[in-house]
Amino acid sequence: MKRARYLKLTAAAGLAPILDPVGGFAQAGPPLRVGLVFSFSGATTEIGKLTDAAIAAYMKRNGDTVAGRKVQIIKRDDTGPNPEFARRLSQELIVQEKIDLLIGAAFTPNAIAMASVSTAAKKPFFNINAATSGIFAKNPYSARFGFTTAQITTPFAKWAITQGIKTSYAVFQDYGPGIDAGQAWEKTFTAAGGQMIGEARIPVNNPDFSAFIQRIKDAKPEAAFIFLNASGGGADFLRTAKTAGLDRLGIKLLATGDIVDEPIVNVAGDAALGMITTFDYSSTHNSNLNRQFVRDVQEAMHSKDLPNFNACQAYDVMHAVYTVAKAQNGKIDPDKTMEIVKGMRFESPRGPILIDPATRDIVQNVYFRRTEKIGGLYRNVEFAQIPMVHDPNET
Ligand code: PHB
Repeated sequence: MKRARYLKLTAAAGLAPILDPVGGFAQAGPPLRVGLVFSFSGATTEIGKLTDAAIAAYMKRNGDTVAGRKVQIIKRDDTGPNPEFARRLSQELIVQEKIDLLIGAAFTPNAIAMASVSTAAKKPFFNINAATSGIFAKNPYSARFGFTTAQITTPFAKWAITQGIKTSYAVFQDYGPGIDAGQAWEKTFTAAGGQMIGEARIPVNNPDFSAFIQRIKDAKPEAAFIFLNASGGGADFLRTAKTAGLDRLGIKLLATGDIVDEPIVNVAGDAALGMITTFDYSSTHNSNLNRQFVRDVQEAMHSKDLPNFNACQAYDVMHAVYTVAKAQNGKIDPDKTMEIVKGMRFESPRGPILIDPATRDIVQNVYFRRTEKIGGLYRNVEFAQIPMVHDPNET
């Protein structure tokens, strides 16, 4: 129907026309049902709150209706790394709640389960955070909006060599993203001429880091590379390392940004000061869009808490949901949705991002940051970036 005729008809019927935010018009459709499975309790309570707030902030800024459909978020708490639970929740959302799209996953095991449900049901799945390489390769309706630990780590190991670091030790959690990070570090560092003098794998639920820090101390490397996920006890690790005197022994700690995540870094306090990390997002990122994002999330939180990488990634997932809905006039056809996602490129609060059309993985800047104390708060300040990095494990 032509716009003019539509406006005339709606006026004649005494109805208000439904105009979408870009000035087109759309029939009022049923709600757009977005199923969110994420971790909102236990060690991820804070991260869950920030992720929720980012989704609310996106909807407040962009409207809660897209292409004539009111957006409903149907939320489920998988409570932590718990793939069978995440699988069941995703299935229920699809079968009983009749969702149009599935979003979420803080943890790799859950994302693997959700991706397999997505494949079986042909339901698009936009991954917010799980960071292991290759987990979506055989799941054609899944796409990655977070990062991979190999993507973040590879430029870091190259940089370490340019800083004159010749020997290193790697400590990482013994599951997908940790093993990927450790391997990316070791492979890149040795290929660039460095020498690995040991590694230690930390069990995922490890309350005591002192034995691992002692191993680093005994090995006496010039640097230790660490991967601990954002709910893995980063503040405790950094404090234990400080007390053990790694810095006084001249052993530099280098880690992915998870260890100094926004909710953690002020708990770690001085033990985090001066840490160099690489990551996809910092709340200090210098752009107008990020400043607006930070303000919007704080408003949604009713607090001064700062958004973290999960929050930014969830915001970007919402942008992808709105984009695919708009492009299909409110319909969510699974194959068309994935065609739109492949090659999708937009400005995120973290900087430019692109979904690789061949792999549905994300291509983005990797930032080098130093933890500094600014206005009484510990913040990760970006000082260098490697533009548009692919996952080195992409096949
Ligand atoms: C993951 O399980 O893939 C994961 C979780 C938390 C992180 C990073 C990776 O901070």
